[in-house]
Parts: sequence; structure tokens; C-alpha cells
Amino acid sequence: MLKAIILIGGPLKGTRFRPLSLDLPKPLFPVAGFPIIQHHIEACQKVEGLKEILLIGFYQPSDAFKTFLSRAQQEFHISIRYLQEYTSLGTAGGLYHFRDVIQSGNPECFFVMNADVCSDFPLTEMVDFHRQRSHACCTMMGTEASREQALNYGCLVENTDTHEVLHYVEKPGTFVSSIINCGVYLFSPEVFKHIATVFARHQEDLPSDDSFALGSKDSIRLEQDIFPMLTGDSKLYVYKTQNFWSQIKSAGSAIYANRLYLALYHKTHPDRLAAHGEGMPSIKGDVYIHPSANVDSTAVLGPNVTVGANVTIGPGTRIRESIILDGASIQDHSCILHSIVGWNSTVGAWTRVEGTPSDPNPNIPFAKLDSGELFSEDGRLNPSITILGRNVTIPAEVIVLNSIVLPHKDLPHSYKNQIIL
Ligand code: GDD
Ligand code: GTP
Repeated sequence: MLKAIILIGGPLKGTRFRPLSLDLPKPLFPVAGFPIIQHHIEACQKVEGLKEILLIGFYQPSDAFKTFLSRAQQEFHISIRYLQEYTSLGTAGGLYHFRDVIQSGNPECFFVMNADVCSDFPLTEMVDFHRQRSHACCTMMGTEASREQALNYGCLVENTDTHEVLHYVEKPGTFVSSIINCGVYLFSPEVFKHIATVFARHQEDLPSDDSFALGSKDSIRLEQDIFPMLTGDSKLYVYKTQNFWSQIKSAGSAIYANRLYLALYHKTHPDRLAAHGEGMPSIKGDVYIHPSANVDSTAVLGPNVTVGANVTIGPGTRIRESIILDGASIQDHSCILHSIVGWNSTVGAWTRVEGTPSDPNPNIPFAKLDSGELFSEDGRLNPSITILGRNVTIPAEVIVLNSIVLPHKDLPHSYKNQIIL
């Protein structure tokens, strides 16, 4: 039997995802029409013998969370539970804290997946790979990155014949390797022995006075505390994927992930892609339209557009490379490019909402998306996608360019390169 754990973090994380994470936990943000972690769950469901999925994080279980959990349980006929950490315990601390729950039923091994990544998740291939290496304690999914970008990730050096990891450094200061950690692992239960060693050491080493925040002694990180300990001992292996993989850190990366998951639907869920036909809107490339959305037949959508539930899209509109969230209304002849339109927001007629994409550099092999800083060093807002928060109203005949609009704003006029508070 197998299990999967999805590390969903908590409200202190995901600050680069604001204002979209202000009222919805980032793991529930819809990409290609479904919450980010639903894509993980759908991949897990395809793995033979995988019986339970545990979400570990430190969010308070909100209504949105409870609704998601109960809906997912029914839809996927698999046990899905949320285990709440009392504070941020780090990527291995939560695993250790809930080790009894994870080990109940004696799973042969278990996946651990970062919530903030998108991929086609080659999980079955990882199980086969792991089983072929009887001493393996962990198989890590890896991919190639450019030399410069690799520094922003966990980097590893492998034995190219056996794929054993010989050396692992988290976000190194200087070049170590261009093979990076994708944040998807398959562990044998033996790993708890290693985490226990680190846990015991932390209890001895760290003083117990008040200067240490609650839980800091219990915080253990896979990347810094565990992986370096497993290298060079036939315990840690890398399964390298050639397929798509990206982090979802900034809102701009949600637009990129949206494109990748829509493309994956050709293989996994062709029924989710909008069809062409008479009396239907004109569809270019990959588009997802929620069945409850009302899209005028003269609208032109795509490529890479997702339209949420109860959205209204008026005549003559043009939308590309964008996510339109539930309940939004896009009025006649407006144009939305490289943007996210928030829940229940309204874009007036003949208005243009446009952002600047942050795609990976196509001229650099293995380039990844940069989820860069919001502001440049001279304090200016870096051009990025335009984001309208929840319940924003944009009047008719204006232009909103490279801007971030916080929730519940009524814009009086056009804006360019601004955060509108
Ligand atoms: N439950 C829980 N508790 N989850 C956590 C905690 C915690 O205390 N801290 C982080 N996470 C979750 C986050 O929600 C995210 O899904 C994942 O763990 C990793 O988050 P970060 O700690 O922010 O690391 P990172 O994303 O900068 O880097 C990690 O992922 C990269 C790939 O995306 C590292 O594993 C890198 O080595 C890796 O390359
Ligand atoms: P933390 O995110 O908790 O560090 O606090 P902060 O919002 O004060 O600072 P941050 O560095 O995230 O943002 C810098 C500035 O962006 C803030 O001082 C505000 O002027 C503006 N800002 C405020 N709220 C938001 C938001 O939700 N999203 C974005 N992008 N900018 C915001």
C-alpha cells in the first residue's frame, strides 16, 4: 500500500501570491479550472495501490478548505485528510509530528509533494524506479535548470550510472549542479529513523528559553537537515523527468502553470478543453470554460485561457493568456491579456486590461520561470501580469496596464505600472 502527503504550508507562506491569497489559501487557487492541489490529487489517484492522501500544513481549516476536502473525498473515492501543524514545523517536522498517522496501515512507501509546483507528476515511474533500488530510502524527482537559475533551488550531483545522489545543497551560493530538486519525493518508512536522529539532536542543541519561538526546536527541514545526511550512502536517488515542471510562487507563475496544465489536458482530460462549433465563441488553442459560464458567441478566447464558474463574457471581447475567476463579468468589446481577473470583479465595456508575461527565456536551454521580486532595486514595480483582486470594478473605456489592484476597489480611471491599494 502507498500513501501521499502534500505539504501545503500555511498563511505565512505565499506572500508573493498576494492579493490573490488574501482570502483563499494559495493551494486552493484554481489553475486550469481546478485548485492547484487537485492536480496533485488527480496524479496520486492514478497510482496503483495508493490508498490515502494527507495534506499537512498550518492553515486554520477554513470553510473553503472543508468544502474542498469533502468534495474531493467524494469525487476521488480515496481517503483525503488534513493534518494541521500547531506551528510551521518545516518540510520534515510535520512528517515527523504525524509519523504515526502516516505509518498506520504499514505503507510500503509514501510520496511527499510540495503543493506549490506543477508537473505531469510521473509518480508510477517513480515507484518502479524506487522498487528497483532495494536500499533506497528516498527517490527525489529532479530536472535540469539553467546554471544561474539552479541557485534558487535545491541542487544535487548524481552518479550518472546509478542515479545515486552524491551531494545535495539547498539553494547554494555558487554553482553546484544544474540538476535541481523538484519538491516531489518517494520515501521508504526508514526515513523516520533519520528524522528522529535530527529531532533528538535539535532537542539537545537548542536552548529551551523563551527567545526561541514556539516550535522552533521541532522544526526540521528535509532540504537542510535530512537530504545531506542521506547522500553517498546508497540511500538517496534522483529520478530525472524530461517533462514539464515549474514552481507556482507568484501570480505570474499561475498564468504559466495554467498554460502547462491546459496542454496536459489533451492527454489526461480532453473533455475539459473548450470545443469549437457553430454558435459558440471562437476558441484559439487551449481554453477551459466552466459549464456554468455564459460566454457570448462573438467573443474570442485563447490561447491559454481559463474561465471560472458563473462568469459572464460579453460580445466582441478578446481574452488571451488569462484566468477569469468565478463570478467575474467581462463586458462588451473589452480586451484582457496576461491578466488574472478576481472573483466577482467587473471589467467595463471597451476597456483594456493588460499585463506583461514572465515566461521562461526561450533562448536559454532548461530555463525556468523567474518568480522575481515585485519591486526593482530603485523601488519601481517590475512589469508583471495584471491582477485584479476580488470584487474590483473597472469602468468602461480605460486601460489598466501592469498593475495590481487590491480587493474591493472601484477604479476611477486608467492606471499603468501601479499597485492600487
Ligand atoms: N506543512 C508544512 N509546514 N509545509 C511547509 C512548511 C511547513 O513548515 N514550510 C514549507 N512548506 C511547504 C510549502 O507550502 C511548499 O509546498 C513546500 O513545503 C516547499 O516550500 P519552501 O520551504 O518555501 O521551499 P522552496 O519552494 O523555496 O524550495 C523547495 O522546493 C523547490 C522546488 O520547488 C525546496 O525543496 C527546493 O530544494 C526545491 O528545489
Ligand atoms: P509582508 O508581506 O508581510 O512582508 O508585508 P507588506 O505587505 O507590508 O510588505 P511587502 O513587501 O509584501 O509589500 C511591499 C508593499 O506593497 C507594501 O508596503 C504595500 O505598499 C504594497 N502592498 C500591500 N499589500 C499588498 C498586496 O497584497 N500585494 C502586493 N503585491 N502589494 C501589496
